Amino acid sequence: MNIRPSEDSDVRTLANLFTESVHDLAVGHYDSKQRTAWAPQPPDLDYWHERLTSLHTLVAEIESQAAGFISYELNGHIDLLFISPGFVRLGIATALYSRAESILIKAGVTNIFTEASLSARAFFGRQGFHVTEEQSVSVRGALFRRFAMRKLLDSAQQGVAPDRYSAMLHNGR
Ligand SMILES: CC(C)(COP(=O)(O)OP(=O)(O)OC[C@H]1O[C@@H](n2cnc3c(N)ncnc32)[C@H](O)[C@@H]1OP(=O)(O)O)[C@@H](O)C(=O)NCCC(=O)NCCS
Repeated sequence: MNIRPSEDSDVRTLANLFTESVHDLAVGHYDSKQRTAWAPQPPDLDYWHERLTSLHTLVAEIESQAAGFISYELNGHIDLLFISPGFVRLGIATALYSRAESILIKAGVTNIFTEASLSARAFFGRQGFHVTEEQSVSVRGALFRRFAMRKLLDSAQQGVAPDRYSAMLHNGR
């Protein structure tokens, strides 16, 4: 597996991966109306271009095929983590998360947080996150149950001044 920062040319691939992931992997947790609201088909590529531009994204590739991606902010927010349906339970999300976590630790982040879907709660629990709040949110007219989750990082893992890494982080590395 190769993990690399995303490029502008990845937008269509990542938007399609997200859409397939939601419609396939979230089936047991969200109904068809919810999945359609979460991931409209076809995906709006202008929306995705704008959304990904504001985030740092790492892409996992297997034999040059995108198998998953994670998007995060330098304040510790994990915004997106989606694996292609053919590649689940192979440790890809764990590898992506670990890479993002290392970057955030080097940036001086002391806690990492996300809003986990019902489908991802167990994954984040396995990474050491705990639920801080159960939430109900409306997306494009559909209601979703999700969990605000947080992982406090050990201060022993800190130690590198954020500014030393700002250029590297800007490139998603
Ligand atoms: C949740 C998701 C990111 C996990 O990706 P993955 O690459 O399959 O995860 P990993 O293989 O790294 O799993 C690591 C561990 O997390 C836990 N885990 C992962 N998926 C799980 C699931 N569906 N149910 C229960 N536990 C799960 C397990 O402990 C797993 O270890 P194991 O396989 O040895 O039992 C992926 O299923 C996905 O994209 N889901 C749909 C989209 C989604 O909800 N994304 C998150 C939005 S917040």
